[in-house]
This record gives sequence, C-alpha cells and structure tokens, in this order.
Amino acid sequence: MNKKIVLRDDEIPRQWYNIVPDIPNGLNPPLDPETKEPMGPEKLGAVFPMGLLEQEMSMERFIDIPEPVLDILKIWRPSPLVRATNLEAALGTRAKIYFKNEGVSPVGSHKPNSAVAQAYYNMKEGVKRLATETGAGQWGSALSFATSKFGLQCKVYMVRVSYDQKPYRKSMMQTFGAQIVASPSTETRTGRRILEEYPDTPGSLGIAISEALEDAATREDTKYALGSVLNHVVLHQSIIGLEAQKQMEIAGDYPDVIIGCCGGGSNFAGLAVPFVPDYLEGRKIRFVGVEPASCPSLTMGRLAYDYGDVAQTTPLLYMYTLGHDFIPPGIHAGGLRYHGMAPIISALVRENMIEPLKVHQLECFEAGVLFAKTEGIIPAPETCHAVRAAIIEATQDLNEEKTILFNFSGHGLIDMGSYDKFYAGELENYEYPEEQIAKSMANLPRI
Ligand SMILES: Cc1ncc(COP(=O)(O)O)c(C=O)c1O
Repeated sequence: MNKKIVLRDDEIPRQWYNIVPDIPNGLNPPLDPETKEPMGPEKLGAVFPMGLLEQEMSMERFIDIPEPVLDILKIWRPSPLVRATNLEAALGTRAKIYFKNEGVSPVGSHKPNSAVAQAYYNMKEGVKRLATETGAGQWGSALSFATSKFGLQCKVYMVRVSYDQKPYRKSMMQTFGAQIVASPSTETRTGRRILEEYPDTPGSLGIAISEALEDAATREDTKYALGSVLNHVVLHQSIIGLEAQKQMEIAGDYPDVIIGCCGGGSNFAGLAVPFVPDYLEGRKIRFVGVEPASCPSLTMGRLAYDYGDVAQTTPLLYMYTLGHDFIPPGIHAGGLRYHGMAPIISALVRENMIEPLKVHQLECFEAGVLFAKTEGIIPAPETCHAVRAAIIEATQDLNEEKTILFNFSGHGLIDMGSYDKFYAGELENYEYPEEQIAKSMANLPRI
C-alpha cells in the first residue's frame, strides 16, 4: 500500500468541471440589488473581467484550463492524496481515511487554485490592479502570489481580527508585493461608517468585501476578486476533486464519505463536485459539509436571496445565509466566518445531497493536535473542522469498513498563535449567537 499517491505533472487535469448544468432543479439566478431582476454580465463587468463572468454563467460541463494557468499550478500541483494510516491507527478504526493535501501550495492552502486563474483572466483583459478581502489571510496571500506572477498590483482588505491574530500573513502578502490594510479601514466610505458606529468591531468578511468592492468600483484601473462563494471559484477548485478521482482509482478505492470545511464553500465544493455525476448515476456517496457552530449558515441559516456583503453592493445570491449584517464571533478559523454560502453548495444542501454538520472550536483544535501528532502536519484552524468531522465519521463504529476522503484545505504554520491560545486555555466555544442572528435575519431583503 502506498502512503501517498502522487500524479506526474503531465497527469494534471487540463479542464475544469462545471457542476452547474448537473445540479438537480438548477440554480436560482443572481438578482440585481437595485431592480431585483435577474442580473446579466453587463452590469457585473464593472468589477469582474468578461473571461470570469462567462465562466460564472456557463452551462458547459468542461472548460479548458489555459496553459499559462497550468504552468503556474504545476509549481505545486498535482497535490498528493495521502492515506492517514497513523491517524487511523491512533483512532483504532477499520475505516480508511484519505486526505487531499492542499497545504502544499506556495501559500499553504487551496486558495491559489482560483487566485491564479483570476489573476490570469484579469491580466488578459488589461486590468492593472485587483482589490480583494481576506479572512484568515489565506486568500489574500494567494491573490498576492498570483498577481505577482502576472504583473498586477494587489490591494487586500484584511478582516481586523485576523490582521491582529496573524501578523505573518501580512509579511507573506508584502513579500509578494501586495498592499494590506485592516478592515474596517478609514480608506473607504463603508469602512469609515462602520468604524464610527462600531469602533471596536472585529470586522467580518462581509465588511471587507464591501470595502474591496468600493475600491474596485471607484478606480478605473482596478477590478475585484472574490476568493470563494461564486460559481467560477468553485469551477477553478474542481481541479482538487478531479485529481482525487484519478488518485483514488490508483489506490483502488472509492470514497463512501467526502468531507470538507465550509466558509464560502469553495474547497469543499472543489473536492466534492467532480464526484456528483457518479452520485447522480446511483453510486452511494455521502457528502458532509462542516461549519463552525458559531457561524452556522447551513445548519441554522435560511435559504433566501441575500447580499454577499454588509454594504448591500453585491448581487443578491440565492444561498443559505445568517443575514448579510451578521458579524460572527472572533473564532480562530477566520476563513469560516462568513454569513453566506456558495449558491452551488446551497443548492446541493437544498437537494439533500450534502449533509451539513456543525462543530465547536475546541473539539476542532483537539482534532488538529491529534492529526499533527499522527500525520505530522499541523492543520489550519479551518481545516481542523474537516479533520474533526473525519474523526467523527471514523469513530462512530470502529468496526465499520468505510472509506473517508476529506479535503486538507491548508496547513496551520502561520496560525500558531491560535494554537498557543488553545494550549493556554484561552479559547472558548461560542454558542449559537441566537439573538444577533435573529436581528440580522430580520434585515434580509424582501424579494
Ligand atoms: C485553510 C482554509 N480552509 C478553508 C477556508 C474556507 O474557505 P472555503 O469555504 O471557500 O474553502 C479558508 C478560507 O480562508 C482557508 O483559509
């Protein structure tokens, strides 16, 4: 048995898989925030390049990956598929646990899979500068890396709490030449308004998205890049699952359960969606999307049209949401602190194809420490959620022979401050912030 299954460079997938045409009962279209009518690419062209908007709306099942994108992805892709034999032994389970290691990318997560493609299509259309938000700092690092490869400038609005918790993410982004500011910032109208009302706010992805969008909308040379949620991001991330399919075949196995942590949904969708056609043809696969109990959009949110940001500037997306002005508690999995969810994941939950699962912060760090001690890799706090769910699956019945595949979305080497807090007993579990969510749900737009 091979501990890890590694593909050659020339085995890298050359097309992305687009799940949209295969979603039972389809996706509801995005709506124009002003008219509440379905929104075409024309209006979105102000903030996104056409190459990405075509992908956003595409009904093609397979889309070619451009050569210049493949050349950069090959720096770390194909990523290894690893059998977590040591973790299995420590748990005493008969389940087989596989993980797809996306932590081997230049910045340590799955995020560059989309950042490289996004920077490429912007460069091709003459864009000079990209503005974006980042939660944990992973997406900001990824876009900083990708823009540096294609000669673009990059401005990152980094959620305040992560900016303070993760100083080395800033250093990493600076290394790739990006400019970083804590969000809410005084550099945008939205930022100034929120600071006036809530001077001590930890910030949120919803606020940082508003700031980056405002930046892009007010500058000729700048477009906006989003690190998750949208269809084109899920498309780019599908390379994870396409590789995993080839690797599972080499291993002579097939997953019974596929697991991923869910912030905006892109890493989980990227691993899961290429397996959906098999599911639709009758293969038994369970898909489990894991989210923090403190920001439970899938398990406690509502499927509704909502804005992707606090300032209500994005198109209305049909998704599971906790309300666009919900500011989640400052948990250390910054990348999972988002009020909404990818419309693709939301539709698959609606169709009962994905089972959502919520877990608490402390059990996730415990799982992460066990994983580090057994498999030797320290998971990012977000990834600890997937590790925790894999452990739950593998230990429900220790004698059950099943094959578990989870996405190891990123390593935690720049998140050691969070681990320090965990060891010092300074981290707590946040209960479901019921009152605050009820308040933000009352502000859902009426369609
Ligand atoms: C390591 C890691 N995993 C997961 C996520 C969650 O994002 P998504 O749900 O889009 O994969 C993030 C987001 O920043 C991340 O950094």
